[in-house]
Amino acid sequence: GAGKFFVGGNWKCNGTKDSISKLISDLNSATLESDVDVVVAPPFVYIDQVKNSLSDRIEIAAQNCWTGKGGAFTGEISVEQLKDLGCKWVVLGHSERRHVIGEDDQFIGKKAAYALSEGLGVIACIGELLEEREAGKTFDVYAVPSWDNIVVAYEPVWAIGTGKVASPEQAQEVHVAVRDWLSKNVSAEVASKTRIIYGGSVNGGNCAELAKKEDIDGFLVGGASLKGPEFATIINSVT
Ligand code: G3H
Repeated sequence: GAGKFFVGGNWKCNGTKDSISKLISDLNSATLESDVDVVVAPPFVYIDQVKNSLSDRIEIAAQNCWTGKGGAFTGEISVEQLKDLGCKWVVLGHSERRHVIGEDDQFIGKKAAYALSEGLGVIACIGELLEEREAGKTFDVYAVPSWDNIVVAYEPVWAIGTGKVASPEQAQEVHVAVRDWLSKNVSAEVASKTRIIYGGSVNGGNCAELAKKEDIDGFLVGGASLKGPEFATIINSVT
């Protein structure tokens, strides 16, 4: 694998002050392997609550951001505001934003470039690589100043929220293809250092087999990240 195992919990549009306070207390009392980067992405409106009560062991990501500085952009959230709240990361290009909300590579690329230029780490989501060559299209428009702060999340759309997890072999095959793409289009060094994580129906029962694969450097977890003990199991599947 490349670098430290990385596990992100994408809470999506879920939770209330009460349910999140319970999740935070479960995460605070869980025993987590030390050699894993752990990040959670709460809905914007709960970021401050999470920052104020979750252990600093776990970093915070936003689920989206605006393409540039704030101003007259009703309903948007700027990178500067996310940093002000203590976010270290932003998830960009998630398939729900692409396919449900209609964001395209150009728009996502702009967001990524701005977030990176302001020092936020980017969890860059791609999907269906083999069919759509979406990774190539996506990365071509990322005017990326440095790859040091990027984690690539491969999420086959058919596996998201469906309970149909990719087999370890299927995921490994795509992760290798992404690494090859990085090697040919960016550099061999970036290819070997960039963490490529898998997302799509990861849970406490299937994480261990996936984590064994050479090119699976962590997970982006949706549903199972809403349950503290199960999320801890996934974090601790590091090999
Ligand atoms: O960002 C997370 C992914 O979309 C996976 O969601 O674990 O609920 O399938 P899921």
